Amino acid sequence: MAVEALTPRPSSAKEASPGRAWWIEPALTVVAYSAFVIYATWSVFDQVNVVFDPYVSPFFSTWLGFGLVRFPIFGILIPILAVIPLGLRGSCYYYRKSYFRSFFWDPPACAIQELKRGRYHGETRFPWVLNNYHRYFLLLSVVVIVFLWVDVVRAFTYHGHFFIGLGSLILLLNVVLLSLYTFTCHSFRYVMGGRIDAFSRVLAGKLWHRVVMLLNWANPRHGLYAWVSMFSVALTDVYVRLLMAGVLHEPRWIA
Ligand code: FES
Repeated sequence: MAVEALTPRPSSAKEASPGRAWWIEPALTVVAYSAFVIYATWSVFDQVNVVFDPYVSPFFSTWLGFGLVRFPIFGILIPILAVIPLGLRGSCYYYRKSYFRSFFWDPPACAIQELKRGRYHGETRFPWVLNNYHRYFLLLSVVVIVFLWVDVVRAFTYHGHFFIGLGSLILLLNVVLLSLYTFTCHSFRYVMGGRIDAFSRVLAGKLWHRVVMLLNWANPRHGLYAWVSMFSVALTDVYVRLLMAGVLHEPRWIA
């Protein structure tokens, strides 16, 4: 039997894809992630309540969920609570792959040799050890999603009447995308079915099985939901700010 000689892995993306602009995707990723982090940081530290009745920016939802009361610690509280979605995205399996490839080029793609940067310690040292807390960020994010849905219900109510504005629809779309991102998480799939050995032996096993099959089907789209929900959060915040500034006058319908 003929034995094929193993070819060594290419040492760089350039070598693996000669003549191709392989760097465009990681460069765009760096630009998009950096822009989002800068914008989100500015928004939560801006000390302005991004609220235009009945809309509230998703960056401020959790605070308002605690009762529409302005706390004196507001300026500190919002950035602290922002750690939850930031922690979820920062430790997300999709984002990890993405930022290791784009920011560190370590390696920039699969089938490319790793960079030689001393001993590899995996996720045993700060800051990468924080990635082990992903499941906890996920569970906290599920609570945040509940608050966001409450905000969407509020966005369809104006002075006690049913109401639809362009902003109501934007908030709804945003929370749908965020929910898709959160519930297609790998850890969520494990929480829902990872401990079950045989669905036939657990209570409501058929139902559990359907739920897990649905999550299995949706999970490969997790990366897509990560991207679109990131844009939708920022654009929803921008939209509410434009309304506050009087730059936009949206169409509204009140029953
Ligand atoms: S949120 Fe992406 S893997 Fe959990």
